Amino acid sequence: MKIAVPAEVDLGEPRVAATPDTVKRLVALGASVAVEAGAGLNSGIIDADYELAGATIAAGPEVVSGADVVLKVRRPEAGELSAYKPGTLVLGIMDPYGNDAALKALADAGVAAFAMELMPRITRAQVMDVLSSQANLAGYRAVIDAAGEFGRALPMMMTAAGTVPAARCFVMGAGVAGLQAIATARRLGAVVTATDVRPAAKEQVESLGAKFIAVEDEEFKQAETAAGYAKPMSAEYQAKQAALVAEHIKKQDMVITTALIPGRPAPKLVTAAMVASMKPGSVLVDLAVERGGNVEGAVPGEVATVNGVKIIGYLNVPGRIAASASQLYARNLFAFLETMIDKSAKALAVKWDDELVKATLLTRDASIVHPNFAPKVEGAVQ
Ligand code: NAI
Repeated sequence: MKIAVPAEVDLGEPRVAATPDTVKRLVALGASVAVEAGAGLNSGIIDADYELAGATIAAGPEVVSGADVVLKVRRPEAGELSAYKPGTLVLGIMDPYGNDAALKALADAGVAAFAMELMPRITRAQVMDVLSSQANLAGYRAVIDAAGEFGRALPMMMTAAGTVPAARCFVMGAGVAGLQAIATARRLGAVVTATDVRPAAKEQVESLGAKFIAVEDEEFKQAETAAGYAKPMSAEYQAKQAALVAEHIKKQDMVITTALIPGRPAPKLVTAAMVASMKPGSVLVDLAVERGGNVEGAVPGEVATVNGVKIIGYLNVPGRIAASASQLYARNLFAFLETMIDKSAKALAVKWDDELVKATLLTRDASIVHPNFAPKVEGAVQ
């Protein structure tokens, strides 16, 4: 059982898919693990630490040759795939929606590609939930980034030279990232308010010591899907929500937006007029910028300044806290891979009918097998 950990080829990706801790655990399960030289450097892990954990270090991308399993952060590109042998299990964040050509390349390479972000959010799979582990850190980092750009202090400070008021922070979207943003802003002493369209979020927001602000009408009471996600809201609700937000936002120093709806572009929650109503020196962080953005005027990868108000649109925010993000991500991957290993035989034994495998497996035996992405058959009954 040969497991390979290549360095990420995307220069904007500082995370790594294994840590010395997960290498040690894999070796204990009977695997031989090869890590590409320098793969962990941007996450603060040196080759010697991987070696101490039992890995061998390979000089370059040939680390994957002969591997039965490849652990990745991002989907391997066509150039990388040519070195993988058919049948290799590849675990990573595959970003499959709208990337048909890349999915075909995975299928053509004959690999079994698992999209970790499709992991069901059930109790058994919580330890494998990369969306949660990474969103949690992104929520934390968003507040740190906002604080770094903010020209004032967050906590109230009473000094001989006068009192510095506490900053007001508004968090929009109280899922995993938003709840961690609330907790972080509270720890730093800000006065925090938050909004969401799911009624379940109200209690969670309040339990963190923040004030919940939302249009709590009949539609709000129905806004959560069985899977726990938000539904797209009606135009009427959106107008009521916008009026409430417009009034609230002009008094805020910091706004962190995290609102997402699965499989759709992010809802636009903060208009240019709302940004213009904020005091100069205020800061917004748009964590949804990679999915179209919640804030009008957010520029992917940049800090935009509009009338003295800064809009932070950093990409790959978990990568901005890479060492912690890699630590949690590697554990997510290990937990899933462990379910595919027969511990007594010390060999791979994938249960292809397991619900976690079925939910995440994109390609196998040169075909796209996931029902959400498989090419539609002409004349088939839907
Ligand atoms: P997400 O990343 O899809 O969305 C972020 C937040 O934006 C959500 O809370 C959503 O309700 C909110 N939102 C969407 N449209 C909005 C709008 N127009 N205005 C304001 N807010 C809006 O969600 P995430 O963070 O992945 O979590 C979704 C739910 O799943 C949460 O209830 C979370 O607690 C739950 N969850 C359950 C897990 C489990 O049981 N294993 C693991 C992780 C999350």
